[in-house]
This record gives sequence, C-alpha cells and structure tokens, in this order.
Amino acid sequence: MTQPKEIDWGLMEATINKHRGETWALIPLLQEIQAVFGYIPPDSIEPISEALHLFPSQVQGVVSFYAGLSLKPKGKYVVRVCRGTACHVKGGQSILRVIKKELGLDEGETSPDYQFTLETVACLGACFLAPTMMVNSTYFGKLSPPKVTSVLNQYGKDKGEDE
Ligand code: FES
Repeated sequence: MTQPKEIDWGLMEATINKHRGETWALIPLLQEIQAVFGYIPPDSIEPISEALHLFPSQVQGVVSFYAGLSLKPKGKYVVRVCRGTACHVKGGQSILRVIKKELGLDEGETSPDYQFTLETVACLGACFLAPTMMVNSTYFGKLSPPKVTSVLNQYGKDKGEDE
C-alpha cells in the first residue's frame, strides 16, 4: 500500500528558506514543494506566505489556480479523463463511467490506499486520439471500455499491487 509521505517539516523549512524574501519565486517554490512532497500541505501555506511577504490568501489563490498544484495528497497513479467535445462525441462519457466503476471513485477522489486519483480535464490536447485519458504522463487514446479495463489492470488495479 502506498501512503502519502510523512511530512518532513525540517525539509519543508529548508525548501522555503531557499526563497525567503523572494516574492517573485512563489510559483517555482510551490512547484518544488509539490515535487518533493507530492502536494502542498495546507499547513505550509502560512510559513510560505510569511517567508515571501505575501498574504496566505494570495498563496492559497495561486495553489487553487494552477492545475498542477494540489492541497490534497494524490494517488500513485493520477488518471485524467478528457471531457472535451471531441472525446464526448466519440463516447467519452461511457469511458468515464467505466473508469469510475472500475476504480470505485468519483471525479476528484483518491482511493483510500493512495493508489489512484481520478480527475477530469477540459481537453488533453490529443483530440485526434479521442476518446482519451492519461495515467500520470502517459497518454491512452482511441479508448473503448475493454481497452480502459486493460489499461487500468496494467497499473495494478486488479492486483492490489505495491511499488
Ligand atoms: S477533446 Fe479530448 S483530447 Fe481534446
């Protein structure tokens, strides 16, 4: 089972300190924290804002605005399903239905074992492959319900696989 990493607050402080006083460095700092910890722990908002001379609401606003940043830990595999027009007309809705059923998750949810997170996006930028989905940074296109099932099985959906 993959649990989110325990937060090493010493490491968090060191990461934040690298950019102390650098108000312009908010986004690079948030990206670094996301890369190290897998998400932006809500308790880090206060020290970040203090170090960069910003209001916590400003930091919070940036975190909510950028799709790549998250205040919640995500699963080992982030499944992104396209809900754009090209995918919709090619049966994207039934693809999403199958994925929800297979993973037992709704949009925005993470499985209790932190194996999968399910998200939908406006367009994955690969409309010619509609209907599409991504698992982390890998694209899967021209999907059908059986193909979706086999993709998810590849990621250990049916095996309860560890690392
Ligand atoms: S509409 Fe689905 S990839 Fe663009």
